[in-house]
Amino acid sequence: MTRPAEPLAVPKHVADLAGDREVTAVWLNDLGGVTFSLAGEEFVKVYPEQHAALLVAEAERMTWAIEYHSVPKILSTGPGWLHTAALPGRSAVDPDWIRRPRTATRAIAQGLRLLHNAAPVEACPFGTPSWIPADAPPADRLVVCHGDPCAPNTVVGEDAQCSGNVDLGDLGVADRWADLAVATMSLDWNYGPGFEAEFFDEYEIDPDDERIAYYRARWEEQAGLPR
Ligand SMILES: Nc1ncnc2c1ncn2[C@@H]1O[C@H](COP(=O)(O)OP(=O)(O)OP(=O)(O)O)[C@@H](O)[C@H]1O
Ligand SMILES: [Mg+2]
Repeated sequence: MTRPAEPLAVPKHVADLAGDREVTAVWLNDLGGVTFSLAGEEFVKVYPEQHAALLVAEAERMTWAIEYHSVPKILSTGPGWLHTAALPGRSAVDPDWIRRPRTATRAIAQGLRLLHNAAPVEACPFGTPSWIPADAPPADRLVVCHGDPCAPNTVVGEDAQCSGNVDLGDLGVADRWADLAVATMSLDWNYGPGFEAEFFDEYEIDPDDERIAYYRARWEEQAGLPR
C-alpha cells in the first residue's frame, strides 16, 4: 500500500471517464490495484481481473453504508473498476496531514466513532470482516466495523474534521475493538509512536489492552495472505 513512485499507465476506460481532466495514479495496493484521481473530483479504483470481485463487494457495502455515514457516492462501475465521487479534503496520510499528526489522529478516531454509532448492526446485511475469526472473544460492543481502518482510509477536510471513509470492501459486523486496535496500530506506521492516547481521547474510550492485542495479532496474521 503506497503512493506510486512513478506515473502508471492509465487504462483506456479511465481515460474515457476522465475526458479532458488530468488523471493521476494516487495509490498502488498490495494486489496490484491502482486508484486514479480525475482532477481530484472523482476517483477510479482499478483491480487486476482475478481480484475484481473485491470491488463488487466494496460497491455493495458503499451503497449500504452511505445511508448512515459519509462514504463515496458511486458514479459508475464495470468489470474490475469502481468510479466514485471524491470526498472533500485529503487522505489522512497526505503530507499536509502527516505534518499535523494530532489533528489527523483525531479525525480518524472521529470517523470511526461516527460510523460505529450510526450504522445499525441489526440491519447490516454483511458478515464479519474477512480477517476476524468466528471464535473471536465475546464483544465489548458489536458495531458495523470499517474492516480496514488504517489511516489512509480516512479523508480529512479543510476544517480538520473527518469528511468520510473510503475502502469499504471489508465492512462488516464485529467488536468495535477490531477497528480500534488496527486504527491505532496504523497511527504508529504512518505518524510514528505517541498518538494512541489522542485517538482514544477523541473516540472517548479507555484502551482495552487484551482486545487490542487480540485484534492486532489477527490483523498481522492475515497481512501476508492474498485477499
Ligand atoms: N472517493 C474518494 N474520495 C477521496 N479519496 C479517495 C476516494 N477514493 C479513493 N481515494 C483515495 O485513494 C486512496 C486509495 O483508495 P482505496 O483505499 O479505496 O484503495 P485500496 O487500493 O483498496 O487501498 P488499500 O491499499 O488500503 O487496500 C485512498 O487512500 C484515498 O486517499
Ligand atoms: Mg485504502
